Amino acid sequence: MPYLLPHTPTINKKLVLILAFGNLSYLEACSVLSDRLSSSKQLWEDVAMLELKDARGGYENLAGVHKVAVSITPNPRARLDDIEELDDFLGGFDDGFNFSVSLYSPEGSGEAEYEEVLSTLLAAVREAAFRKANLVRPRNGSEVLTREIASRKIVDFVVLRLGEKYWLGATLYVPDSQQFQVRSNERPVVSSQISISSRLARLLLNLGGVRKGGVILDPFCGSGTILAEAITAGLSCIGVDRDRNRIENSRQNLEWLSKTLKTSAKPYTLKVGDSTRLESLMDGVQVDAVVTEPILLPKIDATPTLDKARKMIRNSSRLYSESLYSMAAVVRKGGRVVIVAPSLRTTEDRDVSVLLEDVGAAGLAPFQPVQVPFEYPVRISHENTRWVRRMVYVFERV
Ligand SMILES: C[S@@+](CC[C@H](N)C(=O)[O-])C[C@H]1O[C@@H](n2cnc3c(N)ncnc32)[C@H](O)[C@@H]1O
Repeated sequence: MPYLLPHTPTINKKLVLILAFGNLSYLEACSVLSDRLSSSKQLWEDVAMLELKDARGGYENLAGVHKVAVSITPNPRARLDDIEELDDFLGGFDDGFNFSVSLYSPEGSGEAEYEEVLSTLLAAVREAAFRKANLVRPRNGSEVLTREIASRKIVDFVVLRLGEKYWLGATLYVPDSQQFQVRSNERPVVSSQISISSRLARLLLNLGGVRKGGVILDPFCGSGTILAEAITAGLSCIGVDRDRNRIENSRQNLEWLSKTLKTSAKPYTLKVGDSTRLESLMDGVQVDAVVTEPILLPKIDATPTLDKARKMIRNSSRLYSESLYSMAAVVRKGGRVVIVAPSLRTTEDRDVSVLLEDVGAAGLAPFQPVQVPFEYPVRISHENTRWVRRMVYVFERV
C-alpha cells in the first residue's frame, strides 16, 4: 500500500519531490501535472519543487518519485529551532508517534550537519510536549528508507538546505513500489538482460500522456514489460517484435498478468514484424502514443574504446532513425513517441550516444511540457548499468 501522511498540513500546494531517476523523473512530473502547475523548478539532480494551482493531488500517478513532501513553513528559515508552525503541524498526532528526519542538500549532507539538524528537530518535538514520540534513525546516510516510512507509519520531516536557509516539510506520500517489483520478478518470462524495470516502463508510459482507454504501441516489445504496464494503467496496447520467440514471451507474460489482475479482457494485440515497416503492419490503424525501448547493441563484456563505441552506436543509429519515421507514421497527430536510446561510456571516459536529430522531416517535434525547455536526450539517473546508459527522447507528432 502507498503511504499517506495522516494529517495534511494546510499548505499543500507547494510540493517537494525526491526524484528516483533525476531529470527524467522531473520530466515525468512536469508532463503529468503540466495543466495544473503554477511553477516548477528542479533544485538539483534528485530534488524538485512544484507549486500546483489546486490541492487535488495527482502525484499518486508518478512512477519516478521516492517521496512527495509538503511544507510545514511557508518559506525557508535561517533556523530550525523556533518554528511556530510545528505545533500546528503536530497537533493531530498521538503522543507516541514515530518520526524521522531526512536531510537533502545539493552536495549531499555530512554526518555532522545531519546530527545537528536531527537534534534540533528532536528538541523541537519534545518542546511541543511530545515526550514519547519515537525517533527512527536511518540505517545509514541521512534519510530513512521509504519502505520503512510506509511500513512503520513514520512522520518523516524533510529538510532541504537551500544556501544558508532550511526548508522544512514532511513526507506526504510514498508510492507502493512493491507492486512494480512483483510485476517485474514474478512473471513467467523474466529477461532482465534486455528489459527495463516495470517502474521505469510506467514512467515512460506516463510520458506518453495517454488517457485511460487509449491505445499505445511498443514496436520492439520483447517480453512485454511496457505492454504489461499499459494494461495495468487501463490502456489497450499493440506489441510488435521481429522475433517470434519474443512475441511468445510477451504472450505468456500478458496471460499471467490477466490472471493476476483477475480479468478475462485481453486488451492487447501481438504481431511478429519488422518495425521499420509499421505502416503496412498496422494496416491504417493509428495509436495515441508509441512507447518503446529498442536498445539495439551487441553484448559486450568490457568498457569499449571510443572507436568501438562509435562503430556500435553508428550501427544501431541506422535502425533507430529508420524506425522513427515508421513510428511517426502510425501515431495520431498530437500523440507522442517516447523512445529509449543507448549511450556508451568509453575507456577514454567519453560518452557516445544514439542521437535523434532533425526529426522535423518525420513530422515530430521535441515535447516540452513547461516553459523552460528540456534538453533531449534526457538521461536516466541512478541506473546500475556500467557502460551502457539509457537516455530518453519524447517527441510530439505535429
Ligand atoms: C531491448 S529489447 C526490448 C525489451 C522490452 N522492453 C522487454 O520488456 O522485454 C528489443 C527488442 O527489439 C526486437 N527487434 C530488434 N530489431 C527489430 C525490428 N527491426 N523490428 C521489430 N523488432 C525488433 C528484438 O527482437 C528485441 O526483442
